[in-house]
Parts: sequence; C-alpha cells; structure tokens
Amino acid sequence: MDLELKNKSVIVTGGGSNIGRGIVLGFAKEGANITLADIDETQANQVAELALKKGASAVQVIKTDVTNLDQVKAMVAAADSKFGGVDALVNNVGWDDLMFFTQTTPELWQKLIAINFTSNLNCTHSVLEVMLKNKTKGSIVSLSSDASRQGEPREAVYGALKAGVNSLMKSLARENGRFGIRCNAVCPGVTIPEDDDEVGKNSMWTQKDAMFTEEQFEMIANALPLKKVGRPNDLANAVVFLSSNATAGHVTGQVLSVSGGYSMIG
Ligand SMILES: NC(=O)c1ccc[n+]([C@@H]2O[C@H](COP(=O)([O-])OP(=O)(O)OC[C@H]3O[C@@H](n4cnc5c(N)ncnc54)[C@H](O)[C@@H]3O)[C@@H](O)[C@H]2O)c1
Repeated sequence: MDLELKNKSVIVTGGGSNIGRGIVLGFAKEGANITLADIDETQANQVAELALKKGASAVQVIKTDVTNLDQVKAMVAAADSKFGGVDALVNNVGWDDLMFFTQTTPELWQKLIAINFTSNLNCTHSVLEVMLKNKTKGSIVSLSSDASRQGEPREAVYGALKAGVNSLMKSLARENGRFGIRCNAVCPGVTIPEDDDEVGKNSMWTQKDAMFTEEQFEMIANALPLKKVGRPNDLANAVVFLSSNATAGHVTGQVLSVSGGYSMIG
C-alpha cells in the first residue's frame, strides 16, 4: 500500500538512537524528506547516511537540544524552509533513570520534566505554528510509554510525565482536528536495539545492564502475551502508520500501546 509519504517533510526528534533511529529508517523506506533533530550530531549523521541508502529523498541533521525553545524554533524553521513545510512531527526524545520515587531528587525531577515534557511542548507548539501557517493537514505522534498507562515501580515521575504527554495529544487532537491535524501517542513497552551500535552515547540503553539484567529481560519477555521484547522496527511501523494520512487519516486522539500485549486498555 502507498503510504503517500514520498517527499513529505517529517521531523523526528532523537532520531539518532534505538526507537528514533528505527522511525527515521521507517520514513526513509517511504521516500520521505527527513529532518533529524538530535543533541548527538555524530550518531545522527550515521543514521542520516543509512537513511539515504534506504531510500529517503533527503535528510538534514540539525543538532538540537529539544529542551531549548530557541533551538527547536530554529530546527523547525529549517525543516519548513528546506522541505516546504512540515507534514509530520514525531516527538521521540525521552529519558528515564530507573529508581524508586523515594530515591529521586528535585534535580532529577526537573531533568525528567525538561526531557520528557517541556521538549514535547517546545516541538509541538513550534510545529503547530508552521502547520497552521501553511494550512497543512499534518500529523503529530508522541512517543509515550506503557508506564503512563499501567503504573510502574521505579518510573513514577517518568510515567506521570508520559501520562501528561497522552493528555496533551488528546487535547490537541480536539483543538486541531478541524484543521486536519491529527495528534496521537504511541506507548512502547521494553524496546531494545538489535545491536549495541544502534544506540547513541546519550541513550538510556548505553548502560542496558544497569537497567535490567539478561535474566530480567528474559522474565519480561516471558511475561508478555507475545513472549518477546520490542524492537525499534515494531515502534517504527506504528509511528509511520499513524503519520500517514493514507493509512490513519481518520485516527486522532488515540493512545496506542505497541508493547507485545503488556497493556490492554479498553
Ligand atoms: N526503549 C524503551 O524500552 C522505551 C519504553 C517506553 C518508552 N520509550 C520512549 O520511547 C522514546 C525513545 O526511546 P529510546 O529507548 O529509543 O531512547 P534512547 O535513549 O535510545 O534515544 C534517545 C535519543 O534522544 C536523544 N536526546 C536525548 N536528549 C535530547 C535532547 N535534550 N535533545 C535532543 N535529543 C536528545 C539522544 O541523543 C538519543 O539519540 C522515548 O520517548 C522513551 O521515553 C522507550
């Protein structure tokens, strides 16, 4: 099926690593024009090179700290001017440091708020301005987490912020549906790269062993209905589907778990 994403202008934040990398490569296969916004330029450039080989029409890497509104505005303006607008935004940047709430500090809360929530406000606000100016019937997809739906030990602050992201997408879906702009959230469960070089130096997964032992990964997989942890490609398929007006043109305000059946919300 033609997803009608060829030459469409898409922005992927945090596209240098793991899930974001998978999403960039997913859009590349559809021939999109991709703006890859990542704080890690080296890793982003490697992914951009691969994306061109996989079929992307064009890729521009813009080194961006998405917690900084001025940098985000400049990145979105670059996508608008180089590719004649923005058709799809994927808010993929997110981060957590697993620990019990009583072990967390106010400094950590501020860092989590900036990376998981303020970044989303910055990018979504800046892109909506451009979509409305250009009268684009566009899509915004935010990477949330099943921790926002289930409640997870060691992810209290992160899970609460991702629940905020779900709510933001629903409200914006209601505000902007009349302009043909769709907003959705995708919730991964545990999603790990196929290969260690698929993660950048800032990735949560550089210290995979500190997050979960191999035994715990096995236990997680066995507890899931599909008996396997997620891979970046699993998430990319869902995000590309939601970003396409051809496949998801009547889907907005939804929170979709892509987590091997971990969450089943009616
Ligand atoms: N991997 C999982 O198991 C999992 C589970 C649930 C939800 N998620 C969510 O999915 C998304 C992607 O997760 P991942 O595992 O691929 O992450 P990751 O840590 O592997 O990659 C994050 C990317 O974002 C970039 N980045 C970090 N801070 C940035 C900033 N301030 N500005 C710009 N770029 C920045 C990093 O350089 C990196 O390329 C996140 O929103 C995460 O919360 C992931």
